[in-house]
Amino acid sequence: MRLLIMGPQGVGKGTQAALLSEHYGIPAISTGDIFRYNLKNQTELGKEAQAYMDRGELVPDELTNKIVKDRLAMDDAKNGWILDGYPRNAAQVQALDEMLADLGTPLDNAVALEAARDVLLERMAKRAAEQGRSDDTPEAIAKRLETYERETAPLLDIYENRGMLVVVNGVGEIAEINARIIEQLGE
Ligand SMILES: Nc1ncnc2c1ncn2[C@@H]1O[C@H](COP(=O)(O)OP(=O)(O)OP(=O)(O)O)[C@@H](O)[C@H]1O
Ligand SMILES: [Mg+2]
Repeated sequence: MRLLIMGPQGVGKGTQAALLSEHYGIPAISTGDIFRYNLKNQTELGKEAQAYMDRGELVPDELTNKIVKDRLAMDDAKNGWILDGYPRNAAQVQALDEMLADLGTPLDNAVALEAARDVLLERMAKRAAEQGRSDDTPEAIAKRLETYERETAPLLDIYENRGMLVVVNGVGEIAEINARIIEQLGE
């Protein structure tokens, strides 16, 4: 199974991607986690991405597309994957389409998690207190949500038009939300 997990910041993409990864036995690939890992280890990629991430902006497509392409080519991605946090703009949709055409592995579904803005803000404030993610400052959060609305939310229409979109209510218990997703995707 090849899946996208989409939705605004704080909606629970990472949490649900991890549960789906376990359920379906496929890797969950988060571009944000890859960038954070590189930042922490101060790799060249991390240094290049840092300023964008701290400001809550998208890292340039060239860098982002390359890390996804390399990751999808790895052995453990042969039998499927879940992409969390990618694609995030129209150019990334096109880049992903090309990668998948080259690999001969079409996408199955895009899961869109939904929650009201006050729920998202509350969850991110909690995460900032617990995990101290450097980009969970009020300014960076506001900027990320604004970028999401402008660049990422319109992508849902693309997957809807392809008949691939599955919309799931992201409010409730974690296990309950997970069950909602699996019910729609199939066991
Ligand atoms: N597809 C992408 N394109 C460009 N930049 C990205 C992409 N994915 C992640 N990033 C960079 O990494 C940062 C963190 O991404 P990540 O998805 O972890 O956080 P997020 O947007 O707050 O969502 P979530 O709340 O689900 O973790 C983004 O703000 C951005 O700078
Ligand atoms: Mg995340």
